[in-house]
Amino acid sequence: MHRAPILETVDIWKRFPGVIALKGVSIKVYENEIVGLVGENGAGKSTFLKIIGGILRKDSGKIYWMSREVEFRSPHEALENGVAYVPQDVNILGNLSLYENVFIGRENKSLFLPRDSRREIEASRKVFKELGIDIDPIIKGREVGFSIAQLTLIARAIYFKSKLIMFDEPTSGLGVIETEKLLNIMTRLRDMGVSIIFVSHKIEEVMNVADRIYVLRDGTLVSEYSREQFDLHRIVRDMVAREVKEFFPKEKVEIGNIIMEVKNLSDTVGFVKNVNFYVRRGEILGIYGIAGSGRTEMALTLIGFRPKKSGTIVIDGKTVEIRRPRDAINHGIGYLPEDWRLSLVLIMSISENISLPIINSLRVINLGGLSPIDFSSESKISRDYVNKLRVVPPDIKRRTLYLSGGNKQKVAIAKLLASRSKILILDEPTHGIDVGAKVEIRKLMCDIAKEGKAVILISSELPEVINMSDRILVMREGTIVAEFSRDEASEEKIARAAIL
Ligand SMILES: Nc1ncnc2c1ncn2[C@@H]1O[C@H](COP(=O)(O)OP(=O)(O)O)[C@@H](O)[C@H]1O
Ligand SMILES: [Mg+2]
Repeated sequence: MHRAPILETVDIWKRFPGVIALKGVSIKVYENEIVGLVGENGAGKSTFLKIIGGILRKDSGKIYWMSREVEFRSPHEALENGVAYVPQDVNILGNLSLYENVFIGRENKSLFLPRDSRREIEASRKVFKELGIDIDPIIKGREVGFSIAQLTLIARAIYFKSKLIMFDEPTSGLGVIETEKLLNIMTRLRDMGVSIIFVSHKIEEVMNVADRIYVLRDGTLVSEYSREQFDLHRIVRDMVAREVKEFFPKEKVEIGNIIMEVKNLSDTVGFVKNVNFYVRRGEILGIYGIAGSGRTEMALTLIGFRPKKSGTIVIDGKTVEIRRPRDAINHGIGYLPEDWRLSLVLIMSISENISLPIINSLRVINLGGLSPIDFSSESKISRDYVNKLRVVPPDIKRRTLYLSGGNKQKVAIAKLLASRSKILILDEPTHGIDVGAKVEIRKLMCDIAKEGKAVILISSELPEVINMSDRILVMREGTIVAEFSRDEASEEKIARAAIL
């Protein structure tokens, strides 16, 4: 039925010190198709793309490109041959214009002719237009955000007449609308005759656009599905090697008294307007809203990170004064930011991170900053949390930098729990982590609720909000516009409240 594949890999192996990243991976990519490659964090997806793209060397195996055996020695050589790689951490040169970034390596090299910038600018503008964006290619790289930088790399790939573009987690830095746009671009590129490898752990997105999906687990290719066979549950099962029956392991918890009440909370700039709500012990309170609805700003204002114009916060029946984040911590409110770079010191170990907020209580005698730290209790506390939260690997001396996203998130939560938070505000706690880890974090929320603490779950994932929360608030334009009990909530009602 098919012609020869444009790309074929045969039995690719790759070892790193202490880990075999690829254990004999063989795939085929045909003309005009989008091939999804999915797998959990650490499955070997990036390593595989980097080997094809000339960034890493394989240990063994063969790569055929247009039926010829090849081994690209640099990304540039790959690009010259029609193979482009768009990495996860997109990087364009900040002090060059976008068009110069598009044309890198293709400048007019003639000694006699001056560089024809005007032609390059016009050509870039045209390619950007084809991609559906209207942007001036003279803008410097440093002035654009992630999405435009990514489009610049795509423009470069198109300009180099790439026959294959490999995208590594391309949507992880994008919002909903930009994601939608990018998926459209992928489809458009395919229809223009370009083949695509789309690497992601967001299976739904891949299922949306891919013609075929390969599942990689632990360095081994475990399955292949064609479009008619796509089935979310089967693909997830292949990815995590276990049946995930329950994506949303909500447990029924006895709901207690009101632990915190927020009255009339407004900020000084109008992102947060007259917010009123309460949360009870044992409760998971979901807060849904579209991007820009003010959920994060509300949380940051509540914890004293942003200036308040008005607002009363009552905890366990007593009005408390929260002027800065430290006050919030002292009153038992823990905030987990969406980005773990903000909650963890990545070069520090798991145990150093967990003990950081409580370091003074760990000093042998309390004489302030100079007195020695009781390392054995520091280790004990960390070890307890690492076990309780099932952090993998359970090595408290390991730098958090080397943990997967889900485990970084667990350490960040441990840090909040260690500082005795009884009200946890979790801002998109499962965003950007793989399914297995998502389920673990959700279990953890239930465990926290079971201890009589309260969880405020800010999430953009509607099914997550609906399935994990006891009650759901919807925010729009800085204020709460609707409230639903678990029983009344439906995707449609909530989405309608969030948008209309
Ligand atoms: N440069 C490296 N040095 C050592 N180990 C690495 C390196 N790059 C990746 N690994 C390891 O190889 C495995 C696969 O990683 P990766 O290809 O990045 O996975 P994925 O992209 O699927 O998340 C992981 O265990 C990772 O820790
Ligand atoms: Mg990767």
